[in-house]
Amino acid sequence: GTRTGGLDALLSRVRESLADGFLPLQVFNDADVYDAELERVFGRSWVFLAHETEIPNPGDYVLRRIGEDPFIVSRGNDGQIRAFFNSCRHRGTQVCRYEKGNSNSFRCPFHGWTYNNLGNLTGVPSRAQAYPQMDLADWSLHQAPKVDTYHGLVFACLDPEAVPLSEYIGDMGWYLDTNLLAHPDGLEVIGEPLRWNIEANWKLGAETFCGDSYHLQHLHRSVFEVGLVPQFRGKAETRRGLDVHVSECSGHATVIIRGPEEARIFWGSPDELKAQYRQGELSDAQFSLARRSIFQVGTVFPNFSFMHTSTAFSVGGVAGSYFIIRQWQPKGPNRVEAWNWTLVPRGLSEEAKQIAHRAALSQVGPSGNFEAEDSVVWEGITRVAGSAFARRIGAKLHYAMGLDDGSAQVMEDFEGPGTVYDTRLEDGVQRTLYRRWLQEISRGDGTAV
Ligand code: FES
Ligand code: FE
Repeated sequence: GTRTGGLDALLSRVRESLADGFLPLQVFNDADVYDAELERVFGRSWVFLAHETEIPNPGDYVLRRIGEDPFIVSRGNDGQIRAFFNSCRHRGTQVCRYEKGNSNSFRCPFHGWTYNNLGNLTGVPSRAQAYPQMDLADWSLHQAPKVDTYHGLVFACLDPEAVPLSEYIGDMGWYLDTNLLAHPDGLEVIGEPLRWNIEANWKLGAETFCGDSYHLQHLHRSVFEVGLVPQFRGKAETRRGLDVHVSECSGHATVIIRGPEEARIFWGSPDELKAQYRQGELSDAQFSLARRSIFQVGTVFPNFSFMHTSTAFSVGGVAGSYFIIRQWQPKGPNRVEAWNWTLVPRGLSEEAKQIAHRAALSQVGPSGNFEAEDSVVWEGITRVAGSAFARRIGAKLHYAMGLDDGSAQVMEDFEGPGTVYDTRLEDGVQRTLYRRWLQEISRGDGTAV
């Protein structure tokens, strides 16, 4: 990323542009914006870390990041989940170097200080001679001040003053729950999370999953034309009220593509599952939404996304339904590591779980037919966002579809929360992300939003 300074000036340009539905291109590749994001967005938001089923037993841990800061997500011997800053209190190196495991303790490779899985310093080599006065209780691992779970999703927050997780997720919970609670036995992660790097700004993945429904008919057109997603029928303009955009949902956004009133689709799930959804914990309205759902995609600010749908494996082949959760892990102004977990209903047969996993990978894995196409355009945006010419002319991008021109209608009778539009031809879902982003990144620069 180029560093030009003048963050405050850029943010006021964002503020003015966004009111009219535009966004300066520069925000997708700027070192000052990125530094501010790490401090003010990732340093204050609830950030997704793991699914509880990755660390089911006492002593289980996985390594994760909040922004770029490394954490050990550990289930202690007391059963509680904590997020330890992966930095030795002695001289700072990483005390844990393995991606995942089960351990009673973490021993630092440098001088051997040892911490138990509750984070307490329990062992210091040559302590009696070297540190006769030391009180070990003063030297526990630092930890994220807030860690909480939401129906199996583990989040942490570095801001001790932050609102509780349930309040942070807010109205978006109604839609998340439709996916998370539909199955009576709950969900579990299958396999390892997949990770891959994209030379793109993290916000581009987050905004697309908010969702950029408009690109489906063009960028992914070939996937539709060859018949890999036969369940998507009809042009966007003929599907008013079936396809809905949910924006301003406690700062989060989601898209739902639905079948007709009486449809029994459940994201294309196999029949053995459809029969079980009624026993889940869904309200009648949520159940009816699940019943009609062909496709759901959404983003919880800042960088947690999900997608729930089905795909065929080959042209005319058998369809597999899948539910994935995604994290857009920032790695610089122009690089993101995508993390992808497939969640499957517990108690499903091993074969059916594998079908779901394979369906997910064939579409949204690193070489998936959707994913590979998305990466190319996001990388292109990021490249020009860092260009001198774009900065000189103050290039701005168009996010104004459906804004104040009457083309998108709010559905007053929709049963879920948020501002719900009756078409997928509108950008309110993406403007939701940037309004929230602007609000967070502006906090601390003294500017009222
Ligand atoms: Fe960890 Fe010295 S840096 S023991
Ligand atoms: Fe896409």
